[in-house]
Amino acid sequence: MKIGFFGAGKVGFTLGKYFRMHGVEVIGYYSHSIQSANEAARFTQSQAFNSAEDLLAASDVLFFTLPDGAIRDFYEKLPSEQIQNKIFCHCSGALTAEDAFPGIEQYGAVGFSVHPLFAVSDKYHAYEELTDVFFALEGSKEKIVLMEAWLKALGLKVKVIEPGVKVKYHCAAALASNYVIALLALSQRLLAECGFSPAEAEEALTPLFAGNAQHIAADGMVQALTGPVERGDLGTIQKHLDCLPPDRAQLYGLLAQELLMTAQAKNPTRDYSSIKTFLQSFDRKGRFK
Ligand SMILES: NC(=O)c1ccc[n+]([C@@H]2O[C@H](COP(=O)([O-])OP(=O)(O)OC[C@H]3O[C@@H](n4cnc5c(N)ncnc54)[C@H](OP(=O)(O)O)[C@@H]3O)[C@@H](O)[C@H]2O)c1
Repeated sequence: MKIGFFGAGKVGFTLGKYFRMHGVEVIGYYSHSIQSANEAARFTQSQAFNSAEDLLAASDVLFFTLPDGAIRDFYEKLPSEQIQNKIFCHCSGALTAEDAFPGIEQYGAVGFSVHPLFAVSDKYHAYEELTDVFFALEGSKEKIVLMEAWLKALGLKVKVIEPGVKVKYHCAAALASNYVIALLALSQRLLAECGFSPAEAEEALTPLFAGNAQHIAADGMVQALTGPVERGDLGTIQKHLDCLPPDRAQLYGLLAQELLMTAQAKNPTRDYSSIKTFLQSFDRKGRFK
C-alpha cells in the first residue's frame, strides 16, 4: 500500500518515518508550505508534492495529519471523483472518522481515525518511541478489521473503539496527560506561597513527579499509591482542605474520592468509611453540609 500525508508536521513526520522503517511505501507529503513538505520528504526518503490532487492520485492511503480544524475542510475540497477506493485516515483524538470525512462511503472510499495515545513534541525522534504507544482506531465498519490487522502487523498496539465513545476516550487521554500539568501548576503555586521561587518549585517537584510516574509505570497505579488517603489519615486530609481556597478545596475533595477507590483496591480489608463519609459531605461549593 502506498501512503501519502496531507500535512507535514509532528505527527506526519513521525508516522511517515515509522512506516518507512517498517517497510511501508511512503509516497510523500503535501503541506501548507512546500518547505515543510520538502523537509518531511527528506526525512522519510519520499517526495514533496506541490499539489494535493497529485499526491491523492499517487497514494492508496492518505493520512490527514493537519490541525483538527483543517481536516474536514481539506477533505471537502478534494475532487470527489478521485476519492474512490482510497483509505483516508486522520489522527485527531477529538474527531470521529464521520466528523472528519462525512459521507465518505458514498464515494466508494473508507475513512478512519487513527489516534496515537502519545504526545508527539519532537518530530525527528518520536518515531523511535511508537512501539509502546496505543493507537485508538475507529471508522468504516467494512474495512476496520483489515485496518486493525495492517496497523498491528507494523508492530503498533491498536484498540478499536466505537464512534460514540470517541469524545470520552479523548477526555480520558487529556486527563492522563495535560491535566497532570494542571495539578503540577497548582502545586507550584502553593509552593510559591511557602516561599519557593517558580524555578525552585519546579526543581523540587520534578523528582517527586518523575519517581511517582516511574512507580506507576513499573508497578501499576494501585501499588504505587501512597499518601494520606491511602493511609486512611482523615486528620491530614482535613488540614489540607483547610489550607486551600474553597474552589481548590472542592477539587482536592473530588480527587480524594477518586483516590479512595484506588486505596480500597490496594487495601481491601482497611476501613475507609470515615474518610468516605467525610468526603461525601462535600457540597458543590466545596463546603461541608
Ligand atoms: N502532536 C501530538 O502530540 C498529537 C498527538 C496525537 C494526535 N495528534 C493529532 O495529529 C494531527 C496533527 O497534529 P500535529 O501535532 O502533527 O500538528 P502540527 O505539528 O501543527 O502539523 C500540522 C501540519 O499541517 C500543515 N497544515 C496546516 N493547515 C494546513 C492546510 N490547510 N493545508 C495543508 N497543510 C496544512 C502545517 O503546515 P506547514 O508546516 O506546511 O505550515 C503543519 O505542518 C492533529 O489532528 C492532532 O490532533 C497530535
